[in-house]
Amino acid sequence: MICICDIILTYSPWSEDWFQEIYSKIKDHTLVTEDRCYIIHRFCKQCLHFEGAFTECFVYRGGIAFLIAHILVNNYVQDRQVHLFDTFSGMPAIANEDPSGFKEGLFRDVSLSAVKDYLQILPFIIFYQCLIPEILKKENVKDL
Ligand SMILES: C[S@@+](CC[C@H](N)C(=O)[O-])C[C@H]1O[C@@H](n2cnc3c(N)ncnc32)[C@H](O)[C@@H]1O
Repeated sequence: MICICDIILTYSPWSEDWFQEIYSKIKDHTLVTEDRCYIIHRFCKQCLHFEGAFTECFVYRGGIAFLIAHILVNNYVQDRQVHLFDTFSGMPAIANEDPSGFKEGLFRDVSLSAVKDYLQILPFIIFYQCLIPEILKKENVKDL
């Protein structure tokens, strides 16, 4: 006899081969856990039903950006851009005022050129090496 509780508890669609293939390409480039990457993938796929660009704030090594761009490429979407905002050099000084505990300099083991190299096979990506939220106050960014 199979207990229904066992089935529910062990249901992990991120273990499926198709997702593992994608995840193998991003796992060394993201801090986001496998199950959450799967959920982000499903949400972004649904977003293809809406118009507009994709934006990621806090990109770090680019794993989630890869996930988004991969969805666009795999679904033959060619008219969307992916806008990526980060310092690409770690947490800025303003982080010291944030109660989250992420202090200045954390996540500095990255560079804009390294993220660009990683994402170069994916089109439509625009990089903003910047401080959030300052960049979001700029006129041209509001219209994305
Ligand atoms: C926790 S990581 C983001 C996780 C990432 N999405 C991933 O897939 O692993 C934090 C990133 O946000 C950036 N960051 C934090 N505060 C920032 C700010 N105010 N402006 C720009 N970038 C910031 C850091 O430089 C770092 O790259």
